[in-house]
Amino acid sequence: CGIVGYIGPRNTQDILIEGLSKLEYRGYDSAGIAVYTDGGLKVSKALGRLVNLENKLEGAPLVGSVGIGHTRWATHGKPSDVNSHPHTDATQKFSVVHNGIIENYLELKDELMASGVEFVSETDTEVISHLVAREYNGDIVEAVQKVIKHLRGAFALGVLTEYEPDRIVAVRHASPLIIGIGENENFIGSDIPAILKYTRNVFILNDGEMALLTRDSVKLMTIEGNEIAREMTYIEWDAITAEKGGYEHFMHKEIHEQPRAYQDTMRGRVDESGKKVVLPDFHMTDEQIKNIRNVQIIACGTAYHAGLVGRTVIERLVRIPVETDVASEYRYRSPIVTPETLVIVVSQSGETADTLAALREAQANGAHVLAITNVVGSSIARDANDVIATLAGPEIAVASTKAYTSQLIGFYLLGLYFAQVRGTQTEAQVAETLAAMQALPEQVESILARELEAKAHAEEFSSQKHLFFIGRGLDYAAAQEGSLKLKEISYIHSEAYAAGELKHGTLALIEEGVPVIALATEQALIEKTVSNIKEVKARGGVVLTICYEEDAQELLKSVDSVFTIPKTLPLLTASLSVVALQLLSYYASLALGLDVDKPRNLAKSVTVE
Ligand code: G6P
Repeated sequence: CGIVGYIGPRNTQDILIEGLSKLEYRGYDSAGIAVYTDGGLKVSKALGRLVNLENKLEGAPLVGSVGIGHTRWATHGKPSDVNSHPHTDATQKFSVVHNGIIENYLELKDELMASGVEFVSETDTEVISHLVAREYNGDIVEAVQKVIKHLRGAFALGVLTEYEPDRIVAVRHASPLIIGIGENENFIGSDIPAILKYTRNVFILNDGEMALLTRDSVKLMTIEGNEIAREMTYIEWDAITAEKGGYEHFMHKEIHEQPRAYQDTMRGRVDESGKKVVLPDFHMTDEQIKNIRNVQIIACGTAYHAGLVGRTVIERLVRIPVETDVASEYRYRSPIVTPETLVIVVSQSGETADTLAALREAQANGAHVLAITNVVGSSIARDANDVIATLAGPEIAVASTKAYTSQLIGFYLLGLYFAQVRGTQTEAQVAETLAAMQALPEQVESILARELEAKAHAEEFSSQKHLFFIGRGLDYAAAQEGSLKLKEISYIHSEAYAAGELKHGTLALIEEGVPVIALATEQALIEKTVSNIKEVKARGGVVLTICYEEDAQELLKSVDSVFTIPKTLPLLTASLSVVALQLLSYYASLALGLDVDKPRNLAKSVTVE
């Protein structure tokens, strides 16, 4: 989602719309603005692209000198007019825009409803506007400070009240927000592009900080109210660099957004003790879950590869038979579906034609269909019986990265949840996996911190025509995604093989100098993978191994080089190894001077069969 806010002498509506237009890449399910006008605080919002809001405002403009705006990427509540921001309270005197997720919103909503508050939307944000109204006692800063104490989760906020139309309050807590400084005017923005046209002088808020803006002043403070002194930052980026968050490519930015995407996808789905998975929006009853006899996972492309990991995750955790199939094949092979079959469709966009058709086919056969998707308002999300939303945020690069890894988090959560219901994992086992999942974001950071190492490896093999990936178990699943990534953006011909299968044919292709990337993190299988690596080495292959630090020394006796990743539980290994593979592909594409974000012949979303 994107936030923008303005206070100053210019036409506020125009500035908000201009800002939102620069944030459309952050979300385009709906947009809205709130402006303090002669007639009081007024809100206008519209479903769909920003142009719908612009058309609406053309007929009924909001004229004033202070306002906040928002462009939405749905998380809680489907895209609709009422679910759009800004959200107001019952008196319409307070309005709020919010990025992030309020984890305890259901609790807060129940509490507010018990005291007679009526809700108009399904969003988590609306609780904030009602709470601000409840806590308000003549000082908007104080009210917001009180409200924050009730909120758990991630939030960047812009708050405006009719009672104090010369002020905007901004808050940052685990969701970014900046303050733009102008002359007799000030701005807020979730991202730099929103305000870059008007000013390059900004204060970057840190987590746990807030700001009070008037036309000619900005006061920075902690959310406890202690004033902060900070130097202004001057933004040197051009508009395009700003859109990419300072990265050269969207893919690079999205690779780096993964730690946050992991956190966001877990947020609100692990109970406070950290030991249990909770899926608040889940419709399947315990009875239904206990009755599942088999699972079919269906998807295309990268989402299919997430489904390959999903298969192993569910089988290991829940001990139910799982098959994973590409959607275009599944549809035409008369799949055997019973009322005890759970069908899981995986799709970043939620619009892929083959996946959607497979979903309908499965439903027609009586299956309960669960979607793991990144777009809450998509066709697949709407048609599915249950949805686990991945909260990776919009993915722009054609080659999928953060969507894939968020889908893995979705599978871990689902597998653990089923295991809880069916009793196939002990409480301690679930807690151990959750603890390891909580550590993943930091572990990904540590891989990203060594990306220049990956770059050097990529530059070495980027001039090759063919490349092979090998691995066993989850290493094989990750290898398949790594191979697809490389093909997609570097056009190097690559294949992924189950390491043990190599000797049944493909070994014939290994000759002097052929590069092979071997994944060797599956501890139980590592010795066997090493034997396969030796088969490759004996034929002159050049082997780069992705492995854990502790195994590196031993492996270096057999391989040419290693790229190490931090150790995690065997079940979670793909969440780390794939990040290394993404970096290798990215830097190979870069070394070859190719169009990383828009590879030839490929589209982000494929809505033809
Ligand atoms: C296209 C994209 C892939 C994606 C696949 C499935 O081919 O280029 O990156 O994995 O579609 O898309 P979905 O939106 O269903 O995950």
